[in-house]
Amino acid sequence: LKETRTNPPAPEPRPARCTGIVKGLDETAPGIFSLDLDAPAIARSASPGQFVHVRAADGWDPLWRRPFSVHRVGKNRRTIRLVFRRVGRGTGLLSRLAAGTGVDLLGPLGNGFDLEGGFKTAVVAAGGLGIAPAFFLADRLAAAKKRIVLVWGARTRSEFFGLDTLPRRGLRIHLATEDGSEGYRGRVTGLLENLLPDAGAGGSVRGFACGPTPMLRSLAPAALASGFAWQASLEERMACGVGVCQGCVVRVREGGYRTVCADGPVFDLGGIEFDD
Ligand SMILES: Cc1cc2nc3c(=O)[nH]c(=O)nc-3n(C[C@H](O)[C@H](O)[C@H](O)COP(=O)(O)OP(=O)(O)OC[C@H]3O[C@@H](n4cnc5c(N)ncnc54)[C@H](O)[C@@H]3O)c2cc1C
Ligand code: FES
Repeated sequence: LKETRTNPPAPEPRPARCTGIVKGLDETAPGIFSLDLDAPAIARSASPGQFVHVRAADGWDPLWRRPFSVHRVGKNRRTIRLVFRRVGRGTGLLSRLAAGTGVDLLGPLGNGFDLEGGFKTAVVAAGGLGIAPAFFLADRLAAAKKRIVLVWGARTRSEFFGLDTLPRRGLRIHLATEDGSEGYRGRVTGLLENLLPDAGAGGSVRGFACGPTPMLRSLAPAALASGFAWQASLEERMACGVGVCQGCVVRVREGGYRTVCADGPVFDLGGIEFDD
């Protein structure tokens, strides 16, 4: 008998681990920081909606990495920018990084937004720091010559940043603040409900939503009634970040549970089962 040989199975792609060097850190808005890292391997391969898993300090405290969306990729394709709100120990440590420090990164992780297909207009809805992936998304949408309707809600006007750096061509911006200090008074979901009846007029549209779970939950009915498809980027607390620990699962209508880190963080909005 002739020995039959089969090729060994292709190895599972491993998330790349690298050291990002701090190029700059600014407090862009009160309590909100933008962190530029020289990380060419991630800058070259990241797509909008993907995230990096960041070790906030050497040693064991905090034990787990912290996930942050890629906010921007430098034109030189060497640097990435993260924006984060200082909320706890991990982001507190990151907010004090000195220029030149090496930061342990894993990524880019997750699936990212699906930008394939013939849509002409993108409605991008962001709540608070949910705006983080929306800038990178807007850059890529503009490069693909899509019209962009960006709807961003924050607590107050000082939390808006970077709007003058967005691509200008084909972009319309609508802002909402809970205290009425800028734009529509109220939540981004209220503003979006007013805009959606007109948003679909005049061509094929795709919706992209990024923000905390309560925002996505309250956005879902109006978004799903809009007549066009929506993708949503979810935020869950994470440990491993690579689909192993099952610590970040979300319930979906078809097929039980999915991990936000490896199957997401971007899901079809209509397919998510939000817990009441
Ligand atoms: C895919 C993904 C992308 C993210 N991108 C960004 C980003 O670009 N910018 C940004 O500021 N934040 C982002 N987050 C949230 C960010 O990871 C957390 O704010 C961060 O881990 C907090 O770490 P900490 O040690 O400072 O706070 P902790 O001490 O761990 O927690 C402080 C407070 O924040 C809450 N919290 C912590 N993690 C999360 C989370 N994942 N979702 C919701 N609430 C949380 C805790 O419940 C607690 O109330 C993202 C989360 C995910 C899952
Ligand atoms: S964080 Fe471990 S499976 Fe998602």
